[in-house]
Amino acid sequence: MRFSVAVLFLAVFSSCVVAYDPLDPTGNITIKWDVMSWTPDGYVAVVTMNNFQMYRHIMSPGWTLGWTWAKKEVIWTVVGAQTTEQGDCSKFKGNVPHCCKKNPTVVDLLPGVPYNQQFSNCCKGGVLSAWGQDPQASVSQFQVSVGQAGTSNKTVKLPKNFTLLGPGPGYTCGPAKIVPPTNFLTPDRRRKTQSLMTWNVTCTYSQFLARKHPSCCVSFSSFYNETITPCPSCACGCENKNKCIKSDSKLLSVVGINTPRKDNAPLLQCTHHMCPVRVHWHVKVNYKDYWRVKIAITNFNYRLNYTQWTLVVQHPNLNNVTQVFSFDYKPLVPYQSINDTGMFYGMKFYNDLLMEAGSHGNVQSEVLLEKDKDTFTLKQGWAFPRKVYFNGEECMLPPPDSYPFLPNSAHQGQAFISILIFSLLTLSLVVMW
Ligand SMILES: *[C@@H]1O[C@H](CO)[C@@H](O)[C@H](O)[C@H]1NC(C)=O
Ligand SMILES: *[C@@H]1O[C@H](CO)[C@@H](O)[C@H](O)[C@H]1NC(C)=O
Ligand SMILES: *[C@@H]1O[C@H](CO)[C@@H](O)[C@H](O)[C@H]1NC(C)=O
Ligand SMILES: *[C@@H]1O[C@H](CO)[C@@H](O)[C@H](O)[C@H]1NC(C)=O
Ligand SMILES: *[C@@H]1O[C@H](CO)[C@@H](O)[C@H](O)[C@H]1NC(C)=O
Ligand SMILES: *[C@@H]1O[C@H](CO)[C@@H](O)[C@H](O)[C@H]1NC(C)=O
Ligand SMILES: *[C@@H]1O[C@H](CO)[C@@H](O)[C@H](O)[C@H]1NC(C)=O
Ligand SMILES: *[C@@H]1O[C@H](CO)[C@@H](O)[C@H](O)[C@H]1NC(C)=O
Repeated sequence: MRFSVAVLFLAVFSSCVVAYDPLDPTGNITIKWDVMSWTPDGYVAVVTMNNFQMYRHIMSPGWTLGWTWAKKEVIWTVVGAQTTEQGDCSKFKGNVPHCCKKNPTVVDLLPGVPYNQQFSNCCKGGVLSAWGQDPQASVSQFQVSVGQAGTSNKTVKLPKNFTLLGPGPGYTCGPAKIVPPTNFLTPDRRRKTQSLMTWNVTCTYSQFLARKHPSCCVSFSSFYNETITPCPSCACGCENKNKCIKSDSKLLSVVGINTPRKDNAPLLQCTHHMCPVRVHWHVKVNYKDYWRVKIAITNFNYRLNYTQWTLVVQHPNLNNVTQVFSFDYKPLVPYQSINDTGMFYGMKFYNDLLMEAGSHGNVQSEVLLEKDKDTFTLKQGWAFPRKVYFNGEECMLPPPDSYPFLPNSAHQGQAFISILIFSLLTLSLVVMW
C-alpha cells in the first residue's frame, strides 16, 4: 500500500514537472539539422523545424530558436531566416560573417522578402500551424553556412543548449542527437541523395513552465436549469485587475487602443475571471436519439487577434459526433482504445480568426451528438466536458459542485455520499501511510 501511494505521488508530481500532455502524449517540436555539404572551413546545413503537436501552434510573432556553439563557430550566411544580433565580428577582414555570437538567436523572415533571401518553407514570420490542423504549414526551414567548424562527420561538434520560444516560454529542448542521414528525392523523383550527417533536437511544451495561471476558463449552462455556472473567479489570476478596462469605457474609442505591444502585453476587458479567453458550453437540446451542444469562445484581450485558434474537448460522447456546424472538427485518438477527445478549429476565411475583444470577439458553433443509451444522462454534470484546451493551453473548469443540475435530482444526497466515501478513503490512506 505504501509503495502504491508513493508511486501515485510520484506520478502526480512528475506529470506536473515533466512536459507531458495526456491528450497529445507524443506531441513535440523536432528540429533537424541536415549537413548538405562540407566547405573549406565548415559546412552548410538545412535546418527543419517540424511541429508534431496535434493542437498547439506557434502564433505571431513566431518562433525564436537559440543554441550555443560547441567551439568557435561563426555563421557566414543564413537563407530563409536571420539572427537577431550579429555580435562581435571585429576579427574578420574582408568577408564579415552574418553572426559571430557564441549563442546565436534565429528568427524567421517576414512574408514577402526578396526571392534571393527565401528558402523552402520559410518566411512565414515564424508562424507554425498545429500538426492536426494543417500539417503542410507545420514546418519551417532555413539554411545556415557555418564556418570555423568541423569539416567531416568526425570533427563536427553538435551545437548545445537549444532554446525555443513559441513565441513565449514553455518549451524545453533536449540535447542534439545524431540520427540516420535523411534521404532526399531529386525533383524528377528518380534519384535519391542523402545528407552527409544529421542531428535532431526534440522540444516539448509544458504549460507549467509557460505561465503561473491558466490563460482561459470555462463556463456552463443548460436548457434544464436557468443558472449559468460562471468561470471560477480569478481563474487566470487577479494581479492585473487594476490594469483592465471596462467594456463600456470611453477609452475604447481612443485610436490605437487595439495596437499590439512589442512585449505582447494583453489589455484585458474587466471580468471576474480575468482570463483572456472564455469557452462557454451550453447543453441546448435533448432529442430522443441525439443531443445538441452550443459552444462559444470569447476573446477578452483588446490587443490580440487569435489566428488559427484550436479548441480541444474531452467528453465521453465525442465518439459519436454526428455533425459540427460552422467549425471544423477532427477526432483525436491519443490512445487507440479511447475515442473521447476531439479538436475544433475555425473554417478557413470564415471564422479561423478570433477577433480582438469587443462586439466581434467571439466565434460559435453547435454540435450534434448521437446518444449512447447506456451512458447518456443529464445528471451529475455528465453532459459537460472533462477537459478543455484553447490553443493548447488547459482551461480552468468550474468546481464540480457548481454545475447546473437537473431540477429535483438526487444530486445533493449523492454528492454527500460520494464526499463521505472520499473522506473515508482519504482517512484510511492517511492511517496506512
Ligand atoms: C516527436 O513526435 C513524433 C510525432 O508525433 C513522434 O513520432 C516522436 O516519437 C516524438 N519524439 C519524441 C522524442 O517524443
Ligand atoms: C528527426 O526529425 C525529423 C523531423 O524533423 C523526423 O522526421 C525524424 O523522425 C527524426 N528522427 C529521429 C530519429 O527522431
Ligand atoms: C561518418 O561517415 C562515415 C563514412 O563517410 C561513416 O562510416 C560513419 O558512420 C559516419 N559517422 C557518423 C558519426 O555519422
Ligand atoms: C548549457 O546550459 C547548462 C545549464 O543551463 C549550463 O550549465 C552549461 O554551461 C551550458 N553550456 C554551454 C555550452 O553554454
Ligand atoms: C484584428 O484583425 C482585424 C481585421 O484584420 C484588424 O482590423 C485589427 O486591427 C486586428 N487587431 C489586432 C489587435 O491585431
Ligand atoms: C472516433 O469518433 C468519431 C466520431 O466522433 C468517428 O468518426 C471516428 O471514426 C472514431 N474513431 C475511432 C478510432 O473510433
Ligand atoms: C454511436 O452510438 C450508436 C448508438 O448508441 C452506437 O451503436 C455506435 O456504436 C456508437 N458509435 C461509436 C463510434 O461509439
Ligand atoms: C440549477 O443548478 C444550480 C446549481 O448550479 C442549483 O443551485 C439550482 O437549484 C438548480 N435549479 C433548479 C431549478 O433545480
